[in-house]
Amino acid sequence: MSAEPVFKDVDIHTTAGKIADLERRMYEAAHAGSARAVERQHAKGKMTARERVMAFLDEGSFVEFDEFARHRSSAFGLDRERPYGDGVVTGHGTVDGRPVAVFSQDFTVFGGSLGEVFGEKIVKVMDHALKTGCPVVGINDSGGARIQEGVVSLGLYAEIFKRNVHASGVIPQISLITGPCAGGAVYSPALTDFVLMVREKSHMFITGPDVIKTVTGEEVTFEELGGAHTHNSRSGVAHFEAADEEECLEFARALLSYLPGNNLDEGPAYDVTPVLEVTGEDRELDALIPDSANQPYDMQEVIAHVLDDGEFLEVHAQFAPNIVVGFGRVEGRSVGVVANQPMSLAGTLDIGASEKAARFVRTCDAFNIPVLTFVDVPGFLPGTDQEWNGIIRRGAKLLYAYAEATVPLVTVITRKAYGGAYDVMGSKHLGADINLAWPTAQIAVMGAQGAVNILYRRELAAAEDPDAARARFTTEYEDTLANPYLAAERGYVDAVIRPSDTRVQVTRALRALRNKRATLPPKKHGNIPL
Ligand code: HXC
Repeated sequence: MSAEPVFKDVDIHTTAGKIADLERRMYEAAHAGSARAVERQHAKGKMTARERVMAFLDEGSFVEFDEFARHRSSAFGLDRERPYGDGVVTGHGTVDGRPVAVFSQDFTVFGGSLGEVFGEKIVKVMDHALKTGCPVVGINDSGGARIQEGVVSLGLYAEIFKRNVHASGVIPQISLITGPCAGGAVYSPALTDFVLMVREKSHMFITGPDVIKTVTGEEVTFEELGGAHTHNSRSGVAHFEAADEEECLEFARALLSYLPGNNLDEGPAYDVTPVLEVTGEDRELDALIPDSANQPYDMQEVIAHVLDDGEFLEVHAQFAPNIVVGFGRVEGRSVGVVANQPMSLAGTLDIGASEKAARFVRTCDAFNIPVLTFVDVPGFLPGTDQEWNGIIRRGAKLLYAYAEATVPLVTVITRKAYGGAYDVMGSKHLGADINLAWPTAQIAVMGAQGAVNILYRRELAAAEDPDAARARFTTEYEDTLANPYLAAERGYVDAVIRPSDTRVQVTRALRALRNKRATLPPKKHGNIPL
């Protein structure tokens, strides 16, 4: 470690002295947290705010704002300690050469607590991002509102919330939670597009374990209540659980590689040599679907076979695994994937899956990213739990998201597309542009078993051999209705294709749609069921 520079005998009445004085101040700003606080931070396995910024941005690209800003409060002896930066590092730089604004809360200064100046710095960097149309990445590690500064802190939080909302759908916003994030402070990350957490290092909650114990008597640990695993798998608040901070920063960089700088931007495109002939790998899909409709298969296989290099950045992976969402590229351009997953709850739509996919479709639509949907859905998940918790209004969100989306929409039905779920999952009728179906597709009001029970109730009751009768009726139903050809007759699917043709067909569809321009009727805003 390099020794602390000596700034003695600086004469600020000379030019050399003024420059030396600036350097002293810059050194102080870069070392605003005490050595003890930095040591404590490292001992917890955490980086400092500045280390995170440096690890996140391209080397040498960081330009800092307001490094000499400091609080003006004298309450509770605060005037005895006025560190430069006021506990948050803000500025801009690049990730993979593309501009990004960043703020990073510094737990080593006042516990990263947000006071007036701290808040003003975040507001400034958010305004900069909005003005220049670049993503904003917030690294959160804070004890919340700075208690000594009272209502001023609360005011600044609300200023930040307002900007989160105004920036929503205009510039991508990513929140990394790398330490505590409690009380109303959680609502800034909650308003952003993606929330990434670090296992056992980050916690989010409205009220902590102590308050909960006092009020409800429940005993719960910080990790159980609001740790990374909880928010990724149970609440759906977070989109990624990182094993450590490096992985968290890397995931944020990867996310940015799929997103445009802003809603008017086309988004990143990489040069790839197109392969528009069916390959050996493509042919593997011809053997993927089991002969029995009740047997699951892994939809990730389909996704990997269609995306460039099979690369898929899944988000929200642990939450509602019956639907899969994430980003990939086709011909070097970003695409958002939504796919039912037959391996989990048979791929049914439930509340979690509907909200997860709705949010994702809206994110893609806001940022000009085409949506590629793979459908194998037997319907909505039945149950009082689902009904009483509002599958009607909450399931409607996914329908709403697809119907309002104006980006290119390409849908591939691999197997089941039953009932209302057929309509919901990127159907032609909601506005999808190109709909393809595999010969294994079953597009119908319901599956054979349910249909036969309803249509032939009397015949089955009267049959001498009900099993034989059921088998006969089932075969008849499947041969007549459970196929893609009735939909193809009406143009509800544009083509029935061999599974092995999927990658080439999807590529051609997205190419054809590249210049799609669609608008909705003018309005203040829609009223999505919440
Ligand atoms: C001022 C704070 C602070 C805060 C921590 N510190 N939180 N100072 N305001 N909110 C200071 C501590 O006094 C301490 O200063 C230093 O930061 C490090 O804190 P420690 O407690 O030593 O760290 P640790 O043991 O790791 O515990 C971290 C913690 C705890 C769990 C976050 O500090 C804590 O419970 N803080 C208070 C959290 C809180 O209730 N915040 C208000 C939430 S309500 P020294 O000088 O000793 O190093 C809220 C409303 C937002 O935020 C509303 C938005 C609408």
